[in-house]
Amino acid sequence: MPTLRINLGSRSYDIAIVPREPELRRTLPGFAEFVRHALPKSTAALVVGDTNTQTYVREAEAALAAAGWRTAVAVVPAGEAAKCLAQLANLYDALYELTADRQTAVIAVGGGVVGDLAGLAAATYNRGLPLVMVPTSLLAMVDSSVGGKTAINHPKGKNLIGAFHQPRGVWIDLAHLTTLPEREYLSGLAEVVKYGVILDGEFFAFLEAQATQVRDRKSAVIADVVARCCRLKADIVERDEFETTGLRAILNYGHTFAHAYETLAGYGTLLHGEAVAIGMMDAARLAQRLQMVDADFVERQRRLLEAFWLPTAPLAEFAPDELIAVMRCDKKATDGRLRFILPTRLGEVKLVDEVPETLVRSVLETR
Ligand code: GLY
Repeated sequence: MPTLRINLGSRSYDIAIVPREPELRRTLPGFAEFVRHALPKSTAALVVGDTNTQTYVREAEAALAAAGWRTAVAVVPAGEAAKCLAQLANLYDALYELTADRQTAVIAVGGGVVGDLAGLAAATYNRGLPLVMVPTSLLAMVDSSVGGKTAINHPKGKNLIGAFHQPRGVWIDLAHLTTLPEREYLSGLAEVVKYGVILDGEFFAFLEAQATQVRDRKSAVIADVVARCCRLKADIVERDEFETTGLRAILNYGHTFAHAYETLAGYGTLLHGEAVAIGMMDAARLAQRLQMVDADFVERQRRLLEAFWLPTAPLAEFAPDELIAVMRCDKKATDGRLRFILPTRLGEVKLVDEVPETLVRSVLETR
């Protein structure tokens, strides 16, 4: 099965991508073998989403039990609101019940919410436990499960409480994409478009050419899309693991706007990818006002997002003052200055400091 390596010295790990085609699959024996190689000891807390992955979780548990593992399962409620202190505390309780020691693993089976929350529990319980990510949504497969970012939300700002904690392995089973609800699948495509805009114009053109197949989750293209996104992300994380040089920050294209919409709408109202799609349009229009890209660029990005049935403008009214106030507290802001990742052409972006507030306001006021 295709495996990508993410090279981070002693924190290096593999990302396994399990194909959907039945003749190529070796799912459950392969999973038990993968975690045995990745983890030091046969005890794990499986942190799982309260979604349609229950059968998979039971099968994964059975595969681990057959390989001699002791496991416990902790369930996280669906939705972004679960990335909170109360749910983190529940996971600490579950780890305590399991008498977790430093070699007990956390295995996160779910979408971005489960991965971020379980990852933070793993980063902090007993000063750090080994972690394996089993992403079940497209967004988690192509973005949040790779690279070691873990977080919960603060009521006033998304992902404000978190830690870097690399997993020991990522197990991507593409079969989950067959049953993923449509809205969630499309939301994940926003992050896919992001990779094209920020890093790979040729990939963007491929998405344009194959838009219907990608939207319809055709096997022939989707395995390639997931692998290309993971490789693009891995290359960035390898060069700036802790987001110190500014390179990794480019992965947050559109996210300063997006996080403000998610915070003000109430966590869970907009899916993360939907907010990112709107945020990328705001960022592109801001770049146009700064004469960094032209109107054709903005329209090309809009057309691709629309081809994936993603929103390109907020569905509700947001007061520009309130959005700007939240953006000043974003993790990417420094001393409350407005900083954005903005495109210069397809496949290239840069970090722009001290963007005048009047320009940001005009982007938020006109659609
Ligand atoms: N999702 C952005 C990053 O992992 O850096």
